[in-house]
Amino acid sequence: MIRDLSDEHLIQAGSMKWALDEPNVIPAWIAEMDFAVAPAVSDVVQSYVAHDVFGYPDLRLHEQVVDAFATFAQRRWGADIDQRRVMITGDVMEGMRLALSHVAPAGAVIVPTPVYPPFLVMTRDMGREVIEVQMLDDTPTLDLAAIEAAAANSAKALLLCQPHNPLGRVWTRAELVQIRDLARAYGVHVISDEIHAPLTWPGVDLTSYASVMEDSDRATVLMSATKSFNMPGLRCAQVVSSRATNHETLSSLHPVLNHSMSTLGMRASIAAFTESDAWLDAVRTRSADNHAMFTALLAEHLPEVSCQPAQATYLAWIDVSRVATDDPMAGALAAGVRLDGQNYGVGTDGHLRVNLATSPDRVREIVRRLSSAQSGWRAS
Ligand SMILES: Cc1ncc(COP(=O)(O)O)c(C=O)c1O
Repeated sequence: MIRDLSDEHLIQAGSMKWALDEPNVIPAWIAEMDFAVAPAVSDVVQSYVAHDVFGYPDLRLHEQVVDAFATFAQRRWGADIDQRRVMITGDVMEGMRLALSHVAPAGAVIVPTPVYPPFLVMTRDMGREVIEVQMLDDTPTLDLAAIEAAAANSAKALLLCQPHNPLGRVWTRAELVQIRDLARAYGVHVISDEIHAPLTWPGVDLTSYASVMEDSDRATVLMSATKSFNMPGLRCAQVVSSRATNHETLSSLHPVLNHSMSTLGMRASIAAFTESDAWLDAVRTRSADNHAMFTALLAEHLPEVSCQPAQATYLAWIDVSRVATDDPMAGALAAGVRLDGQNYGVGTDGHLRVNLATSPDRVREIVRRLSSAQSGWRAS
């Protein structure tokens, strides 16, 4: 079901992941896959392009996307999405920006770390104070006491990521209920970014924040097919509001404030949500298998580097603090692999994120290159 693409194909396709370096570098940084998209997605895009008309989107498509999304979320992880509270936007970070500016109360924003770096960059750019709360080490897990202290000290929003990028962890229903109760007690607006929700590994159950929030809670859930179906350039995401009033506020914004979704993104999302389960299941299996292989290869060839156990996503979070120099990304790049690792927040020095949405051969080659790095990557 998965069609692995060659280096030449990926370079010619011209997306960001393969465009930054010389062809001899393996790019394992930004969250794009090295596979062809699902056949139904490809068909929809090709038939759209064949019409030679690229106007603004037909607004009636919104309803179809919302229906396809709600049906998918119900079928895949049992989430009961109220379709009357779902809005379409261009991408997940745009949804987060709209929720922070228009429905979350003014005040500081709590961001558990490590975290997908744009959470920190965008929130600060909006002029909001950010309170970074480092996760507790064991699982790792959310530091509820520190989150509560921040809320008691006037923070008004919390950015969650479920499943978590970069840890690949799925928060349990009990954890989400604790967050919800805490948010209720302190009037905190929870924004739950669930873009990786379709990418739980086989056998892993996911609870969406949408399944624990109630109509009166302050909450926004963000989702998109673009990450798990590998079409982030097509622009379409969903914003689910707990409160009807918040949905109305967001939906009645002037169109220019929520303008970047595309016809292609909406049509491709419908095809992904309705006709691509088998492809998605193959990607979930590949993600779990590649993560297991990567972890085993590290243990064998680079035992000083540990890999965070995960339950979802195609990302691996590794601790290189015992082998790497001050700049582990540069060390990896010198070895011929581009990894990601900057701005993941407090407590993340000496860690890197590895994108494993690729062929098993490239995963093996990534470990081979890192373990044979001449400098900066070996303890001796
Ligand atoms: C957790 C998370 N949120 C948001 C995004 C970006 O999504 P979008 O392009 O829809 O803004 C990513 C991209 O990798 C992500 O991992």
